[in-house]
This record gives sequence, C-alpha cells and structure tokens, in this order.
Amino acid sequence: MYAGGEFYAGGLDPSRTPVDVTRPFGSVIAIRSRLEIFMRMIDFTLNGVPTQLTIDETRPLLWVLRDDLGLTGTKFGCGMSLCGSCTVVVDKTAVRSCATTIGDVAGKSVTTIEGLASGDRLHPVQDAFVKHAALQCGYCTPGMIMSAYALLMANPRITQPEVLRELESHACRCGAHVRIAKAVDTAAAELRGGVR
Ligand code: FES
Ligand code: FES
Repeated sequence: MYAGGEFYAGGLDPSRTPVDVTRPFGSVIAIRSRLEIFMRMIDFTLNGVPTQLTIDETRPLLWVLRDDLGLTGTKFGCGMSLCGSCTVVVDKTAVRSCATTIGDVAGKSVTTIEGLASGDRLHPVQDAFVKHAALQCGYCTPGMIMSAYALLMANPRITQPEVLRELESHACRCGAHVRIAKAVDTAAAELRGGVR
C-alpha cells in the first residue's frame, strides 16, 4: 500500500513497520535486518549424525526435515499438533514436529522414521508393523511408529491398554488401531527379550 511515500511491505497491515520506497537501500537493509533477527546457527544430532544449519530458528522442525533435509518420511497432517502424523523423537521423547521449531532442538538429538532401521534391518517396531499389516494407506504410520518407539524405549513392559491410551491422540483414518496395538505388543515382547 502506497501511503504518502511509505510502502507497507506486508500489504494492508498498517501495524507493520513501513518501508520508505524513496530510499531503496534503506528498504533492503530494513527488510534484511528483520529476517536476520531469527537467523541462527543450529547444531543438533539427526539420526545419529552431527548436523549444523544456519537457519531461521522459528521455522517448524517438520518443514526443515522435509523441505531442507529431504526427510519426507515425517508427514504433514493437520499442522496443529492434533493428528500425530508428524511425530519424531527428540531426546527420547515423542514430539510433534509441526509444533516444534528448529531452534527448540538445538543441542538435542532428533530421530525420524528414516533413522530407525540399521541398514537393511528394520527396527523391531517397524518389523512388527509389517508382520501385523498394521497399516492401510500408511499415512499415519511413521508417526505411530515413532510414538511407539519412544514408549517402548522408555518402558518395554508397558501394557497394551497403556499403549492404546498413548496412541489415542494419533489419528488413523483407515482404522488400523487394533492391528497397530498388536504390532506394538509384538515389538514390546521382542524388545523385552533383549533382541534389540
Ligand atoms: S501435522 Fe503435526 S500433529 Fe498433525
Ligand atoms: S493407515 Fe491410513 S491413516 Fe492410518
């Protein structure tokens, strides 16, 4: 919007800082410094690999994983921390990456679905999902697996009702919850046996 020599860079919002279009260098510097406020070097461990990014620290982890790092196994569902499809594990805790910023994981360890298998060998949780056909379209599956993984790492003796209670907050439009619960049971038994 042009208003007496001033241009609102964000459109019609008059609360935004106006940029003076009669001083183009001033405008560029003002816009750049606004962006640079959020730029930061972030060090974290991603699937066991030390990783460093210079990035806007307020960006959602989900989009950094998918768009910047090509790890598209983590899915976008609701973007509002409601469906669980974007779940990853941060320092042993399942978190929703749509509601976590890249700045939040600085200095931490992030595990995504791509980080569970060892070479060609699936993790017992993945293996159990395959054995029980605990998926249909598969869209919710990475999030379900990451949450189950975090639960079983914390307590392999967790009971099936406890698992179901925890996974209740994950949406599965295909209705695979019963098979998912069986898969988690199988994985728990294998982990209790100390296989992996
Ligand atoms: S996309 Fe993150 S919880 Fe739905
Ligand atoms: S398997 Fe399709 S949404 Fe869960």
